[in-house]
Amino acid sequence: MADIFEATRPDDYLMRLAASDLGRGYKAMVTAELALADGHTVVDVGCGPGADLLAFSAAVGADGLVVGIDHDVDAVEAARERVAGTRNVTVRTGDAHELDLDAGSVDRAHTDRVLQHVADPGRAVDEIARVLRPGGRAVLAEPDWGTLAIDGPDRATTHAYQAYVVEEVVRNAWTGRQLPALAARSGLSVRRVVPVTAVFRDVGEADAVLGLGRVARRAREAGYLDPDAYERWVAHLTTAVFFASVTLFVVVADR
Ligand SMILES: C[S@@+](CC[C@H](N)C(=O)[O-])C[C@H]1O[C@@H](n2cnc3c(N)ncnc32)[C@H](O)[C@@H]1O
Repeated sequence: MADIFEATRPDDYLMRLAASDLGRGYKAMVTAELALADGHTVVDVGCGPGADLLAFSAAVGADGLVVGIDHDVDAVEAARERVAGTRNVTVRTGDAHELDLDAGSVDRAHTDRVLQHVADPGRAVDEIARVLRPGGRAVLAEPDWGTLAIDGPDRATTHAYQAYVVEEVVRNAWTGRQLPALAARSGLSVRRVVPVTAVFRDVGEADAVLGLGRVARRAREAGYLDPDAYERWVAHLTTAVFFASVTLFVVVADR
């Protein structure tokens, strides 16, 4: 089991996910929904190691500007390295709850799997609405961990695993389903909600993306899974035909 489940540095994981078929597919869709044009200013809130910055840079051209913001110093450093030599991208540390951008100063705003982690997603969306110009667009992509489906050997343990993820692992685990209301409350008009369901048929891939093994161990330690049920559950997942899925919702909203 330990050989199947793996651990990697967060930035490696984020870039590997972005480069996977799954990551490339939905990120291309999200970039298209942003409808970036020459000369646009776009802010990527919670840019991480910069997985989207080069695509945004190419889409806004030499007269445009891409602003990457993240509160994690290491992520900002990695993003700066990634965009080194690109003249229309700037990356800085900052907090999604308090963007250092003037009101109405950006044409487009983007988050990808960020609001699920912040202390106050409503305030972060308010900030995005504040910095967008009238007619500007936000494209927000967030998973909903209540949609996590795993074909485990017994329903109770699988429910308990999902409950652990929703209650203890992800700070705002239901952000996906809450995004349309958060956007509307911030004064944005929601144009579309696009579901993206990731289906995993390989336990190693699911582990790399979902942290399956690590989270199951923590669920056992936290008392969500009893030790025998944990052993049976993990043995099943690592030997039987595997299935897991989770849905991410992409909200396209205009100011
Ligand atoms: C799952 S990563 C996604 C990174 C990137 N958007 C991507 O698609 O690869 C979430 C990022 O949100 C950042 N983040 C979390 N809370 C934040 C906050 N309050 N302000 C700014 N960034 C934040 C984290 O540091 C991390 O880089």
